[in-house]
Amino acid sequence: MPSLDQPIAPTPPTGVSLTGASLASPLVSNSANNAMTSAERSILLGITGGVAAYKSAELTRLLKKSGFDVQVVMTDAATKFITATTLQALSGKRVFTDLWDDEIPNGMAHIELSRYADAILIAPATADFIAKLASGHCNDLLSTLCIARNASACPLVLAPAMNREMWENPATQRNVARLLADGVIILGPDAGEQACGETGLGRMLEPTVLQAEIEAIFASKALPKPLAGITALVTAGPTFEAIDPVRGITNSSSGKMGYAVAEALRDAGAIVTIVTGPTALTLPNNINAIQVNTASEMLDAVMDKISEVKLFFAIAAVADYTPVTTYSQKMKKSGNSLTLDLQSTVDILATVAALPAAPFCIGFAAESENVVEYARKKRQSKGIPVIVANLATEAIGANDNQVTIIDDAGEHPIPKASKLKIAHDIVAHVAKLFLSQAASHGSAGSTADSATNPTAASPITTPIEPTKLPRALNA
Ligand code: CTP
Repeated sequence: MPSLDQPIAPTPPTGVSLTGASLASPLVSNSANNAMTSAERSILLGITGGVAAYKSAELTRLLKKSGFDVQVVMTDAATKFITATTLQALSGKRVFTDLWDDEIPNGMAHIELSRYADAILIAPATADFIAKLASGHCNDLLSTLCIARNASACPLVLAPAMNREMWENPATQRNVARLLADGVIILGPDAGEQACGETGLGRMLEPTVLQAEIEAIFASKALPKPLAGITALVTAGPTFEAIDPVRGITNSSSGKMGYAVAEALRDAGAIVTIVTGPTALTLPNNINAIQVNTASEMLDAVMDKISEVKLFFAIAAVADYTPVTTYSQKMKKSGNSLTLDLQSTVDILATVAALPAAPFCIGFAAESENVVEYARKKRQSKGIPVIVANLATEAIGANDNQVTIIDDAGEHPIPKASKLKIAHDIVAHVAKLFLSQAASHGSAGSTADSATNPTAASPITTPIEPTKLPRALNA
């Protein structure tokens, strides 16, 4: 009887020649008894019953080619669309289909297989399989191992494929929303011509695209986690101050920088909540989101959460003024000029920074001129340890940005790059500052500790040891 950690020569399928290397590969490797070529890159490819299953053969080939150790598991329905023999030949491993597989020595295929995987990719994922995962049903090998996986270490990634009506069906959409909230990553579907002859959303993403996405997921898994378990709150996007039911005051912030910082914090291991104004962006995975409209709602949402967090990134373009009166009915034009009476909103960042047990605060200065000089003054006036200066006229709405981080040690320019790259650089810099401050106050753990904010515990002019703080972040 084969064991999980011992290589077993598969029977070569008729007409397919297996190389010496694949013959020597284990059918399944257990990470504890590692016989895999790359312990960090083992992927379990789950195939469910849809026409797009034929693309999974190419996906298997691409994943293998880029160095992944691929273990294929198929549902019964999947075997109606593509044979296990093809997948065995391409993966170089026996394909599993049966929850009761008696070749697994301990009889627990779902546990052994889920522990093997660094990530699970279901491609294609049918509407039925999505429904099953969303409701926690597990009556076959693939659904059971998904539920049995260690969710914090093994991302579950779905590539849906189905008829467009099935995808748009409210039940499917409910299930997808449920899975997103559970931290499952959904890639696609794509729009286009479907096997059934209809056109619309529901095509599985192409194997090359899925392979690139999987590479990106593994790259983010491999990032250092300096903020593991640290709670962080981010404000993002614009606010909208209603004048009447159809008009309001807002600004052109896209929210991209705030969302990118939230993602970078998550990738650094932080537990992230984003308080977001109205944007056209998709909410990032594995981040709690609170959606608001007005500056006042944003303030309330932030104050509600603030005692739970250690890091506060204020990136939202909060309206500085709001109408004194919001009309309940649409205002009619009179032909004369109109003066709106506006009142100041509360400065959320300054309010948080002034709390007795303030978290470590990071502001973003949006300027149109004298960028660094104005940002430096804002850092002082708001009483925060770090501010990130950017030229609003170029940054707003763009995918790229160029910023200068200003802290006690001085100015740290970050050259132009994608907002996500800039966000990772900012988070890496802030993580060093935060952790060194927390270490010197002996308090990385407690949220209600004023030591998390050096401005609360010590004057803002306290120099940070230059050796701990590289001036040129990208050097
Ligand atoms: N901010 C805030 N609440 C406000 C206004 C601003 O939390 N009501 C925060 C922003 O999220 C940002 C920082 O303060 O982190 C600086 O915002 P910015 O718009 O650059 O400056 P303002 O403080 O609004 O000052 P000004 O408009 O005069 O430049």
